[in-house]
Order: sequence, then C-alpha cells, then structure tokens
Amino acid sequence: MRRHAIVVVPGDGIGPEVTREALKVLEAVEASGFCGVDAVVRDWGAERYLRTGETLPPEGLDEFRRAAAVFMGAFGDPRVPDMRHAADILLGTRFRLDLYVNERPVRVLADRLCPLKHVAAESISFTVFRENTEGLYVGIGGQFKRGTPDEIAVQEDVNTRKGVERIIRHAFAFARARGLTRVCMSDKSNVLRFGHDLWQRVFAEVGDEYPEIEREHLYVDALVMQLVRRPQSFQVIVTCNMFGDIVTDLGAALQGGLGMAASGNVHPGVAAMFEPVHGSAPKYAGQDIANPFGAVLTAAMMLEHLGETAAARAVEGAVAEAVRAEQCTRDLGGSLGTEAAGSFVAEWIRRGNQ
Ligand code: NAD
Ligand code: IPM
Ligand code: MN
Repeated sequence: MRRHAIVVVPGDGIGPEVTREALKVLEAVEASGFCGVDAVVRDWGAERYLRTGETLPPEGLDEFRRAAAVFMGAFGDPRVPDMRHAADILLGTRFRLDLYVNERPVRVLADRLCPLKHVAAESISFTVFRENTEGLYVGIGGQFKRGTPDEIAVQEDVNTRKGVERIIRHAFAFARARGLTRVCMSDKSNVLRFGHDLWQRVFAEVGDEYPEIEREHLYVDALVMQLVRRPQSFQVIVTCNMFGDIVTDLGAALQGGLGMAASGNVHPGVAAMFEPVHGSAPKYAGQDIANPFGAVLTAAMMLEHLGETAAARAVEGAVAEAVRAEQCTRDLGGSLGTEAAGSFVAEWIRRGNQ
C-alpha cells in the first residue's frame, strides 16, 4: 500500500472540527486498503498567535514543501480582526509556495441541495480556476492621512503576463484533458482597461492553441447573473483572484452551501495545499453543527492529487450516499452533528459500500 506524508493545519473556529472528520475519513481510506496517509498536525492558528505572537513558524514553509500535500481547515477569529495570522498562514502559503491554481469544483450531489428551481443536480458540473498569487491580493498599497477626512487608501491590482498566462493555460489544459468543450474567462475589462485588457489578450492568444475548445467571455457582473440563470452551461471558468473568491461562494450556494465546497491550491508538479472553501464560521464553533463534507470532499481532491483516484472516488461516493440517505448535518436537511456525519462517511467506506 502506498503511503503519503501530509501536513495538517486545522486552524480556527470550525476548522479543527471539520478537519477531524476529514482525517477520520482518511483513516477509513487506509483501513479499506486504498492508501495510507501519515499526517503531522500543526497548531498554527489564532490561538497560538495570540499566545506566542507567532503566525507561521520559519520552518513551516519548508515543512509544507517537503510534504506530499498540505491540508488546512479554516482561519479567522474575532480576536484577530485584521486576520494577521491568516495573512501569513493561508495567503502566505498560497503566495510563497507559488500555488497559482486555485481549483474549486462545483458539483451538486442531490436535487434538494440546489436552491434553484427546476435544476437537476446532475446538470450542474463546472470547475472554477481562480488565479491565486496576484491581483488585488498582493497587499501592495498604502494609506495616506489615515483617520482624517482627507484619507487616501490605495490597493493595487497586480496582473502579470506570466501570472495571467499560466492560469489561463491551466484552465484550457484541464478542459482538453477531460474532453470538455468550453472555457469561460471572466474579467471586468470594460472598466479595468489596463489589468484586464491583459486578460483579454492572453485569453485570445492561449485560446488559439486550443482550437477545439469554444471560448466564452463574460464580464464578472454578467457571469454571476448567468451562474444563477444557466449554471448548466458552464464547464470551466477562469478568472482573477478577487472575482474567483466571490464567484466560488456563489458556486458553493449552488452546491448546497459553503459546507459542501472543496478546493485545492496547486502549483502543478511542485506543491499543493487543500482547504474547504468555507471559513471558520465562529458562531458554529464548538457546537458540533458544522458540515464536515466540504472538508471531506477536499480530502478527496487531495487523494486525487496524490494519484489515489480510486480512494478519491470512494470518498465522494460515500458523501453522495450520506446526502442521499439524509445522514448529514442540518444545513443539508439532515439532523446529524459534525462528528456523526463524518462517522457515517467513514463507516460507509470501511464497509466497502461505495
Ligand atoms: P464562513 O465561511 O466562515 O461562514 C459563512 C456562513 O456560511 C456561516 O455563517 C454558515 O452559515 C455557513 N457555513 C460556512 N461553513 C459551514 C459549514 N462547514 N457548515 C455549515 N455551514 C457553514 O464565512 P464568514 O462568516 O464570512 O467568515 C468567518 C471567518 O472566516 C472570517 O474571519 C473570515 O475572514 C474567515 N474565512 C476564512 C476562510 C479560510 O480560512 N479559507 C474562508 C472564508 C472566510
Ligand atoms: C477563501 C477565503 C480567503 C480568500 C480569505 C480567508 C483570505 O475567503 O479562501 O475563499 O479570500 O481567499
Ligand atoms: Mn472566500
């Protein structure tokens, strides 16, 4: 049996609760003979930051680099309103490991989970590729005359040829590898005449290398409308960091809520970090309420990345069964707590019922 060494950072709020269930499911994957996962768990998060002043220790990034993959829960704590620790741990990992692909799939596991009327679950299946290393997230800018009526706040939007090209190319390559026929690029080039004009030109140039793939372009305001009106028509969406963040919460809503959405942060061939799309949901923390399936489906994405396709399918199948049998948390219409929902999935895998 193959074994994979991963680093796990459960984080804050519901992060540790959903991560515990993801690890429970990985144990079931091992017990069923698919593959072994050796997890080193790190307490990097708000609690430790408040106690020691340290966010991500200096050796943290090297540990992530050496691992086959990193798994993170969620970050965010009302006691750290500026998200200082998350800037280092979460965004720091994305930036400093240069994880330029943020892959966020949108699949609906049961009709009842989708809030749209008359939309069959199986008709929605698309993947959002969010640029993950630049844009408005680079933190370049400043404030002048802060706290005065004349205050100026500048937040720069950085778009590089290299950065835009590699994420757009990745989206096309993903489509080609899966026999998909359409890629939609979304920007706001009608207004952002410099940064997003670059996206337009690169989309046209790279798209020419994929003549069999139909190109669609939507301004981001139109995209969010069309994601509600005709989500079935999308296969692959590629967009910038900020729009990708926003669009994928909408995608999560189509899937049944933030508790169902999975994501991977990847530099192909180099390093990868997996985390559910949701945050630390502080109001749910410590109450055994949070839906663990987003984290569990994120673990499935990680297994797929590790080359464990059969294990990934088994986990996804078990989550689909939990949803079908209503063995799930309240946000999905079930009555289970976080732990019981995770246990159902783990047991289903152990019994080999996938
Ligand atoms: P959130 O994702 O934590 O929660 C928003 C709402 O979504 C919740 O109130 C809840 O109704 C629902 N929800 C989220 N996860 C759920 C789950 N697993 N099960 C059931 N329902 C779930 O977003 P927020 O409230 O805007 O932010 C809370 C904190 O998390 C903030 O500090 C924010 O910055 C941070 N955040 C972190 C991440 C991350 O670590 N990747 C992502 C988003 C937000
Ligand atoms: C996400 C989150 C993060 C982001 C925050 C917590 C920094 O919202 O992963 O979607 O904006 O990327
Ligand atoms: Mn987000």
